[in-house]
Amino acid sequence: MKVLVVGGGGREHAIVRTLAKSPKIDALYCAPGNGGIAAQAQCVPIKATDVEAMVAWAKENAMDFVVVAPDDPLALGMVDALEAAGIPAFGPRANAAVIEASKVFSKGLMAKYHIPTAKYRAFTDLEEALAYIRQEGSPIVVKADGLALGKGVVVAQTAAEAEEAARSMMADGKFGAAGAKVVIEECMTGPEVTVLCFVDGEHLSPMPSSRDHKRAYDGDKGPNTGGMGAVSPAPGYTPEIAARCMKEIFLPTVAALKAEGRPFHGVLYFGLMLTPDGPKVVEYNARFGDPECQAVLSLLESDLMDIFLACRAGTLDQLDIRWKEAAACCLVLASGGYPGKYATGYPINGLEEAGKTAVVFHAGTKLDEGGVIRTSGGRVLGVTAVGRDLEAAIDEAYAAAKHISFQDMHFRTDIGRTV
Ligand code: AMP
Ligand code: GLY
Repeated sequence: MKVLVVGGGGREHAIVRTLAKSPKIDALYCAPGNGGIAAQAQCVPIKATDVEAMVAWAKENAMDFVVVAPDDPLALGMVDALEAAGIPAFGPRANAAVIEASKVFSKGLMAKYHIPTAKYRAFTDLEEALAYIRQEGSPIVVKADGLALGKGVVVAQTAAEAEEAARSMMADGKFGAAGAKVVIEECMTGPEVTVLCFVDGEHLSPMPSSRDHKRAYDGDKGPNTGGMGAVSPAPGYTPEIAARCMKEIFLPTVAALKAEGRPFHGVLYFGLMLTPDGPKVVEYNARFGDPECQAVLSLLESDLMDIFLACRAGTLDQLDIRWKEAAACCLVLASGGYPGKYATGYPINGLEEAGKTAVVFHAGTKLDEGGVIRTSGGRVLGVTAVGRDLEAAIDEAYAAAKHISFQDMHFRTDIGRTV
């Protein structure tokens, strides 16, 4: 088969590397890809959000299958467009990807189907939103309805902070149309866990749990980022909690989407909080998480292409998906200044040495004309190691990362060691 993966970050590198092991695949392509992906797949210079150009290229080059990994093209209907052109694709159609693209939709779905989540109200009118904030008091959470690069959520410690957030989203247009509607919800407490599930419209198969570390600095300090590292499995996610999540959250969500005429095919991301009242949904995503994907797929033993095909065909229940009895850690090496302003173009040293004991996924890298790998983004690399337990995996990832250096490199020293 000829397979195209859409996207160009660490997540896509992990998908490409895992697919490359499949005997079903003869040729792998990635659009736009990056400096590391180029070693395993032919990179195609098309932006992940350019639906028209992507479909045209996939058609001209006779792709047998396309994997759409990032949120934006899913929300834009890339899977629908590929299917209309006769090309099978992995990922939800736009009407199901809306579970990530609109928080008003996802909160409404959870309310209708009694799926545990934070108490909330949705607003399109600023004055009503402000009155609700004053009535509920703080702490309180303000969320832009649409996709906002992970930055559309403010966990406000004071009512003034919450009012300011609502104003900037609804009146000042901080996130454009994505912030015209907001969700205001109760602030929950407890450890966070990510559970990614393969879904085929009706059946689902959870992957090993994981935990992302979203804050930029040690001790969960500093601004939110796309994710500074992840471990799998997540400490504290016991078989009892997993069974409860399956019954109260995972199965009801997949059934709800089907009942609404929006069957979900792809990876459904459950962002959970283990609150004193039980597990509750913080957010849904319609795709693999980044960097959770890098850690979780490192534990997969089965053929990923078989799983993708089953998710499309609705035959996931007939597949025995096997995982290593081990743990994984993905440590993100970022550009100094990220998630704020940062410089790019710095040469990266030590990749080969680090690659001897860990897998180094590329996120923001570029191969220059002289064959040198340079930094080209905020999150640059994801050094990923597998060990017999979490301690071993974490130690191995940090030991491998010691070999890597680039100007102003920044990383957290406590991945997997805080809640
Ligand atoms: P989201 O983009 O919805 O995942 O939110 C980003 C982060 O904000 C989450 O990972 C949580 O740490 C935090 N968060 C979101 N909603 C809540 C909530 N209702 N209570 C407490 N923290 C929250
Ligand atoms: N790591 C969080 C996300 O991918 O949304």
